[in-house]
Formats: sequence, structure tokens, C-alpha cells
Amino acid sequence: MKIEGKTVLVTGANRGIGQALVAEALSRGAARVYAGTRQPLAHPDARVTPLNLDVTDAAQIRAAAESVESLDILVNNAGIALYDDLSERAALEQHLAVNLFGTYGVTQAFLPLLTGSQGAIVNNVSTMALAPFPFTPAYAISKAAAFNLTQSLRALLAGRGVRVHAVLTGPTDTDMTRGFDIPKASPESVARAIFDGVENGEEDIFPDPMSASIADSWRNGAVKAMERENAAFVTAAPTAA
Ligand SMILES: NC(=O)c1ccc[n+]([C@@H]2O[C@H](COP(=O)([O-])OP(=O)(O)OC[C@H]3O[C@@H](n4cnc5c(N)ncnc54)[C@H](OP(=O)(O)O)[C@@H]3O)[C@@H](O)[C@H]2O)c1
Repeated sequence: MKIEGKTVLVTGANRGIGQALVAEALSRGAARVYAGTRQPLAHPDARVTPLNLDVTDAAQIRAAAESVESLDILVNNAGIALYDDLSERAALEQHLAVNLFGTYGVTQAFLPLLTGSQGAIVNNVSTMALAPFPFTPAYAISKAAAFNLTQSLRALLAGRGVRVHAVLTGPTDTDMTRGFDIPKASPESVARAIFDGVENGEEDIFPDPMSASIADSWRNGAVKAMERENAAFVTAAPTAA
């Protein structure tokens, strides 16, 4: 899957990793980039089409899907991360609304276009899907759920020609990690690594030095082997998902 000539949609496209993904898709020769944002966006490149897209708003998702004619690559990037300690159910619901149900809702809305183009879904998850950071447990739970969603979609959509990638992103220098004094990758380098992973057909993409350090053990591990074994059941008994 080459980015050149393709139509790409990025959610949360106005800042951070999403903004870098838009720039990277353009530099790789994407024919059209739909930039999903909650606020109006102006972009100097004529190939960018802004989309009013709050991923928690079903009406906006529907309107966005109706306004896009064709799509090759959907990047579910929009996300929130807030401090919590699991004492408030509302914090968990808030994270699930954006990071899980937002990803789910946008994916379902664009699925007909993606099956039509034999395209790809790229879900920007987090290493916290695998190992939570105790200051942001609600975030980690939502990312674990989004990762599991990604794995199921991968199995369910394989027979329909849609590739589904998980991005197990580590610390990246954006507004989200402001205040954490730890080594961070630049959003530009992460965006490059994400599209490299898509172009190389990597199911699970580890786009920064921290996450890359666990890539081999994940790819060759017992859990990944189990994912593949479980996925084989779908091939044996296709569903209408
Ligand atoms: N930075 C990291 O270290 C890191 C690590 C692992 C994974 N990630 C993941 O990478 C993705 C991008 O994060 P980032 O670091 O670029 O964070 P960021 O700079 O905080 O940007 C978050 C983006 O998501 C958008 N967003 C939030 N809620 C939304 C909603 N309901 N509907 C639509 N857009 C919404 C924001 O839009 P507004 O400007 O309107 O708020 C913004 O564009 C997230 O999914 C995050 O979990 C980041």
C-alpha cells in the first residue's frame, strides 16, 4: 500500500501527531487528504480538504462520510489523555467516548468506502494498551480496548480486503505529553514511521525508539501467535461484519 496517489483521512488533524500525519501524507504524494478537526481548519495545500469531525458526534460522522467520495486510508488518530485515578466513572466514560467509541464510530461510517477501495485502517493506539501508566489509567483502559478492537477488525475485515494496522505509539512530543520530563520522539518522525509501517504492510507499527524496543518481542511472542490462531477461525467461518 503506497501513499502516493491515495486518498487519506486523518482525525485529530489540527495539531500533534495528526498534523504531522497530514504533512507526511502530502509529502508522500497523497492525492487528497481529508483533515478531520473540531475547529475550522485552513491549510495552504489544495489537496487538503477540511472535515468538521468531532469523533463523538454521530451526526458529524455521518455528514463527513456522506461528503467523502472515496477513501483508501483512514487514520483514527484523535484522542484524549487526562490524569485520573479511577475514582470517577465519568473519567473512564470520557476516555472511552473518544478513544474507543470515536474510533469505532468513524470506522463503521467509512467502512463501505474502505471495502470498496480495498483500503486500510490505521488506529493510533499507544504502548499503554499493553502496559498502563498508573497516572492515566482511564486512558490506558481506553487504548487497551481500542487495540483489542483493532485486532478484531483485522480478523473480521481480512476477508474483505481491508488491512487494519495498530500503532503502538510511545512518548511523543505533543501537547498530550507536556509536563512529562521524559525522552520523546518528534511527531514528524512518528508520522514518517507510521506511513513506513503502512507501506511495508506491518500489522502492528512501533513508530518511535521506546516502542520499537518491544517490537520484536511482541511480533514473535505467544500473544501475537494466539491472535493469529484466533483470527484463523474467521477465515474458516466468515461473518458479515
Ligand atoms: N503524544 C504521545 O506521547 C502519544 C503516545 C501514544 C499514543 N498517542 C496517541 O496519538 C494520538 C494523537 O495524540 P497527540 O499526541 O497528537 O495529542 P494532541 O496533541 O493532544 O492532539 C490530540 C488531537 O485529537 C483531537 N481530538 C481530541 N478529542 C477529539 C474529538 N472528540 N473529536 C475529534 N478530535 C479530537 C484534538 O483536537 P482538538 O485540538 O480539537 O482538541 C487534537 O487534534 C492520540 O490518539 C493519542 O492517544 C500519543
